Amino acid sequence: MLKKNENRILPQHIAIIMDGNGRWAKKKGLPRTAGHIAGAKTFKNIARYCNKIGLKYLTVYAFSTENWKRPADEVEGIMNLLRDYLKDAENFKDENIRVRFIGDRTPLADDIKELMAKNENDSKNATGLTLYIAINYGGRDEIVKAAQKIVDSGIKADEINEQLISDMLYTCDCPDPDFIIRPSGEYRISNYLIWQSAYSEFWYSDILWPDFTEKHLEKAIADFNKRNRRFGGI
Ligand code: FPP
Repeated sequence: MLKKNENRILPQHIAIIMDGNGRWAKKKGLPRTAGHIAGAKTFKNIARYCNKIGLKYLTVYAFSTENWKRPADEVEGIMNLLRDYLKDAENFKDENIRVRFIGDRTPLADDIKELMAKNENDSKNATGLTLYIAINYGGRDEIVKAAQKIVDSGIKADEINEQLISDMLYTCDCPDPDFIIRPSGEYRISNYLIWQSAYSEFWYSDILWPDFTEKHLEKAIADFNKRNRRFGGI
């Protein structure tokens, strides 16, 4: 059991780039899909843990607008994991996690779209963690779509401000992430929450996502507590 630091301040919204599944599998001589299977287990474990410690918002990057470039069997493997998770979510109803999806659903399979809508609806009154799963999500695509919505709604140039743009994004009903975690030794934002991360704190680690545990999350949160956030002030 982890020792709880009762004095620590939890970020309000943690966003995670679940990176390193492919390298984890390669190291073990397994197919890349095995890495995603292990990554999906880690995701469920971390989401449950975040709910348990009282985190308000968690966003995970499950599939980007650029990930379609991967081999078809890998894309199918990730989509199947998503399917399994969505079907299985029925069993976790008592966990009180509110599930939402961000990203462009248009090109997704119909059954996945239906399961996503069902999960959102079934969990809409949950009062614990709000879990955002980014599927076919790209930050630039999100901003383009926001601009299109603004033009379509006939808003005048001088009525456009930062709040209005935030309100047009998929994340319109949640606060910006104050903490972004990227394991696997990569130091990039990879088109993730690029508008919302303007003042986010970043945390990197060499650990590969399938090996990421509650302990790593607690270490990251402890480091977050040492940050001096100035938001452009002094
Ligand atoms: C990045 O690692 C990971 C992905 C592109 C997919 C993430 C998907 C999951 C964790 C499983 C499905 C999620 C849900 C919500 C059920 P990578 O493949 O780029 O790793 P690499 O950089 O080592 O190749």
